[in-house]
Amino acid sequence: MTQYKIKLFEPVIEQEDIEAVIEVLKSGWLAHGPVVETFEQEFARYIGVEHAATVSNGTVALALALKALGVGPGDRVLVPDYTFIASATAAIMIGATPVFVDVDSKTFNISVDDVLQKVEEPGVKAIVAVHLFGHPAEIKALKEIATDKRLLLVEDAAQAHGAEAWGKKVGSFGDAAIFSFYATKNMTMGEGGIVVSNEKSVIEKVKMLRNHGQSARYLHVELGWNFRITSMQAALGRVQLRKLDRLNDLRRQNASYLSSLLSRLEGVEIPYEAPWAKHVYHVYAVKLGTRNIRDCVQKCMTSNGIEVAVHYPIPLHAQPVFRNMGYAECCPTSSALAEKELSLPVHPKLGREELKLVAETFAKCLERCREEVKQQIQ
Ligand SMILES: Cc1ncc(COP(=O)(O)O)c(C=O)c1O
Repeated sequence: MTQYKIKLFEPVIEQEDIEAVIEVLKSGWLAHGPVVETFEQEFARYIGVEHAATVSNGTVALALALKALGVGPGDRVLVPDYTFIASATAAIMIGATPVFVDVDSKTFNISVDDVLQKVEEPGVKAIVAVHLFGHPAEIKALKEIATDKRLLLVEDAAQAHGAEAWGKKVGSFGDAAIFSFYATKNMTMGEGGIVVSNEKSVIEKVKMLRNHGQSARYLHVELGWNFRITSMQAALGRVQLRKLDRLNDLRRQNASYLSSLLSRLEGVEIPYEAPWAKHVYHVYAVKLGTRNIRDCVQKCMTSNGIEVAVHYPIPLHAQPVFRNMGYAECCPTSSALAEKELSLPVHPKLGREELKLVAETFAKCLERCREEVKQQIQ
């Protein structure tokens, strides 16, 4: 395994996180318990919604949110073509069919223009608005379309805890929203997810589905699963939530500093933040000129001990799993972004010196790669 000087993601686990988990372990109440419900109430309050239900991860959170809203077999769900695969596979898990929508070249988020084209297709019942990398999707316009066309709007905020659009937290706009608490996320439980909504019935349904479809003890009224979290996860979640704003501020400061160092480099597009948006930089995504240069810079950074990654090298419509299901070519902007994106470290544990090293190494790598690629072409 490569030993990095600077990692791309690092969870922030402090003494208070450790103590909270130990306290639960000592209490003897390890499975679902009161601390889970306390966390759900606190998270709902933080987002500014009425209700919340934790589940095992963000993927099942999205699947159960769609199912609880009434999406199922025969329904089509608009999903951005440029996102983590779970945004689309969640729809398939509950028998629906994703329809891939192109994205905006500045923010990487679902294109409102392409949504307007595709909402007219027969059978479309819902829009999944992914707030990719921590930058909010154009949620106001999407909500207007959803209201106008009588569609459901579900926010996939797996990467956007604490992000805001027009001064309101993402997760508070749709009919329901989901978050992930995977280890790399802005707040974590190791694994975990949550569905939030202002509709009590939606959250009650999710709670039933996550618990074997039980409406009362050993009374199973529909097919359900075990998608519950443990009390250790919830205890960790409570502490992580308390420091989310502080850690997001650090991410924003780090991103702003890195951008100030990179903005003078030719051929590099630094991350965009819309005037109405608060970006929480789960991923700090730059765009480079071509796939050759991007791949070369990625290799060069890695060999210099700085972990970087491509999110995402293959757009969803071109993934073998979807090609095998008969999905055709679509979404030119998404395909172009997959050639250019490179994610650089800005997590809250990084200081100025480390960010300076990231920027200096990046500048050197870029220069070397430009030369290399030029020579390959000649
Ligand atoms: C945009 C997006 N949606 C959904 C998920 C699924 O979350 P999880 O990994 O917790 O299942 C992720 C996870 O990375 C994600 O990035």
